[in-house]
Amino acid sequence: MLYVILLSMLSLKEKDRPVVRKLLCAGCCVRCVLRFCCVGISSAYRRSYQDIHKELLAFVIEENSPSDDVKTDEPPNKRIRVEEDCVTPAETETETDSDICPVCLGVLQDFCDSTFAKQVSDAVKKQQYEFDSLVLTVSLPAQLSVREHSCWLHVKKEVREKSMCLGKDDVIQVKDAFKWAVQGKIGQELGAAVLANSPCEVSVGFVHPETEEDCHFLANTCPGCFKPTKNKASIFTRMAVVKALEKISDEKFSKHYPCPPKKPNTGCTALDTTCLHTSVFIAGRYNKFSRELPQTPWVIDGERRMDGSVEELIAAPLLSSFRADGFNFSSSGREDVDVRTLGNGRPFALELLNPHRSKFNRTEIKQLQETINQSSDKISVRYLQIVTREATSRMKEGEEEKTKTYSALIWTQKAIEDTDLEFLGNIKDLKIAQKTPLRVLHRRPLAVRQRLIHSMSAVYLDTHHFTLKLCTQAGTYIKEFVHGDFGRTKPNLCDLMKTEADILELDVESVDIDWPPAIPD
Ligand SMILES: *[C@@H]1O[C@H](CO)[C@@H](O)[C@H](O)[C@H]1NC(C)=O
Ligand SMILES: *[C@@H]1O[C@H](CO)[C@@H](O)[C@H](O)[C@H]1NC(C)=O
Ligand SMILES: *[C@@H]1O[C@H](CO)[C@@H](O)[C@H](O)[C@H]1NC(C)=O
Ligand SMILES: [Zn+2]
Repeated sequence: MLYVILLSMLSLKEKDRPVVRKLLCAGCCVRCVLRFCCVGISSAYRRSYQDIHKELLAFVIEENSPSDDVKTDEPPNKRIRVEEDCVTPAETETETDSDICPVCLGVLQDFCDSTFAKQVSDAVKKQQYEFDSLVLTVSLPAQLSVREHSCWLHVKKEVREKSMCLGKDDVIQVKDAFKWAVQGKIGQELGAAVLANSPCEVSVGFVHPETEEDCHFLANTCPGCFKPTKNKASIFTRMAVVKALEKISDEKFSKHYPCPPKKPNTGCTALDTTCLHTSVFIAGRYNKFSRELPQTPWVIDGERRMDGSVEELIAAPLLSSFRADGFNFSSSGREDVDVRTLGNGRPFALELLNPHRSKFNRTEIKQLQETINQSSDKISVRYLQIVTREATSRMKEGEEEKTKTYSALIWTQKAIEDTDLEFLGNIKDLKIAQKTPLRVLHRRPLAVRQRLIHSMSAVYLDTHHFTLKLCTQAGTYIKEFVHGDFGRTKPNLCDLMKTEADILELDVESVDIDWPPAIPD
């Protein structure tokens, strides 16, 4: 009657009894025993190690001596009796003084208590993230997969004799058992929900140098599974080891590796806990009022030309408010250093990497926009807002088909009159062919691009100057359209006006992409 209670607490069934015995004899820890009995109830793993231990022993002994009056508060005696029952030579040989589980290498013994939960939580707190949920990820030594396989082969024999069905996939993974045991405690310490998905990822990892060579025999059984990869210290990655284990026959495995696995002398070591928050994306439109400000830092031969850049002016207050590690700026096209962007501005998106704070309300975003506006008179920003990663792709969508309007100050060699400019207003959808401009040839491939000048209009200034307004297909090189780039853009304004002409100033008047959405003031 006692074990009826036990069965319900750990949800073990009669058929599990021989498996439990065999695993305990092999020196497995109690949580590994539950795993191999496919106990999928998370609360079972949260219980204290001692409690589970007591119950498992009682469960096993119950069968050995059904007439005994079993009391679970006498574990030392019970332990001896179980061990006396482990009589096969292989099993006695593997015994050492260590109590470290040969399968999980201590992960489910020494790291499932509140001490470790506190250690992880303290490491997270130190990094001062603001979050209300987190996801816990666990990285385990690759050789755990070898040991898991060995243990599986060990109980598989037993299970087959009893003609019970148990697949390797039904075994609860070390990772899951570990999370079930400890993540609630971590969440409690941090006052955050631990979910299957969260933008805030807390990573714990374990290493076990003593048994690193466990994997090495697999390199001979499956040479193709292990290829050197960049950024990895060892070829024995967990993925590669799992792949090799899928290919090896049971016979071959047993020839190269002991079943059950040998007990180690030491337990795993925990690596430093790390945190990573997914990127936050911020979008808006910017104006650039300076002819001496590049969009991105301008570096030639490792040397910085000109102070500041549009992206740095926008990013600086955002980096510090979101406490991000870095940023990634993108925009709908770009303007040259000496070109202003006026009108409604140019759409941009900024990816903030690993932000330690990610939630800001409308008012706070508005304040950030004001801070950017007031930090410099060279730029300003409007419609600043937090967007999704997916939404940022809308900025680049159909970019080539969009139109842009420009205003250019033109100089002509030939003296002009007001009436010399009238014909320009009558030109519609002028097709031009542009070879990659000389000035960008060092970073763009040589190509000929067809572009459309949708319309033009001119405002006469004096005998050698006028303002040209252009509405063009995005991606048109305006400067080259005006001066011709040594005949590389055809036709060009010089051809049309039958005089040498040059562009003295250029402004972008509008970028016709209606993203991000306008935000009323
Ligand atoms: C920056 O963005 C580009 C394009 O979206 C991406 O390929 C790159 O990986 C990003 N860089 C970082 C550091 O995230
Ligand atoms: C935005 O957050 C601030 C605190 O940073 C708070 O004072 C303010 O009331 C919030 N505004 C709105 C509209 O929620
Ligand atoms: C920032 O400047 C833009 C453009 O001049 C303006 O539309 C916007 O209202 C300003 N925003 C704030 C919060 O100062
Ligand atoms: Zn274990």
